[in-house]
Amino acid sequence: GAAAAGPGDLAGKRIVISAGGTREPLDPVRFLGNRSSGKQGVALAEAAAARGASVVLVAANLEVPAPKNVDVRLASSAADLERAMLLAAPDADVIIMAAAVADYGPAEVRPEKIKKDDTGDTLVLTLVRNPDILAGLAAARKPGQVVIGFAAETETDPALLLELGRDKAARKGCDFLVLNRVGWSEGFASERNAVTVLDSHGDIVIEASGSKMSVAGRILDLLS
Ligand code: CTP
Ligand code: CA
Repeated sequence: GAAAAGPGDLAGKRIVISAGGTREPLDPVRFLGNRSSGKQGVALAEAAAARGASVVLVAANLEVPAPKNVDVRLASSAADLERAMLLAAPDADVIIMAAAVADYGPAEVRPEKIKKDDTGDTLVLTLVRNPDILAGLAAARKPGQVVIGFAAETETDPALLLELGRDKAARKGCDFLVLNRVGWSEGFASERNAVTVLDSHGDIVIEASGSKMSVAGRILDLLS
């Protein structure tokens, strides 16, 4: 935007941010999870609050503490996260889906612990596709509401990575997509991040790298 980025420039904006990674329960003691730490989403929440926004943080199993001055709502599974986002979305000027949401969850949650003796040498799990929360929020967004998605990709070739990002931006229908390369040693637990932000046409609007806090600042500049 035209206003200078910095303290107070997001005053009056209501921003809902999901962060972390969902856990899909298998039985009372086990889940299927992912390696998202929640650091980038938490950095966004902290930076947005510091710039005057009123922030709801939908927190899925964060490995880092939630910031002060934000309204934290805990969500563990994809279904919990969807419920929390749908509840918060109508009052949001901006929605940011930084959480890593499980694409599939167990077809059934066993009421009792799965026992080896009942199962044998191999265990086959049936998983069913979860709803795409971001696509749903984008499709239902009200006029003026800005919806920002994230994309985690392991593709190493920069041109192919960009192509994946462009396809995903088109598929999700969000206003901006933050494209992120991830791997065994990149992305998740790291203090740093490198992102390319695409608009709804797939055009590059930001390339940023540095601390997750500085990357958060650059992303939030889109809103000021
Ligand atoms: N997302 C979501 N609901 C899902 C899966 C993903 O809202 N069930 C959101 C994520 O929060 C993120 C964006 O969609 O903002 C992209 O997630 P990503 O896993 O990169 O994309 P997918 O569409 O799930 O495609 P794939 O994992 O097959 O690459
Ligand atoms: Ca996915």
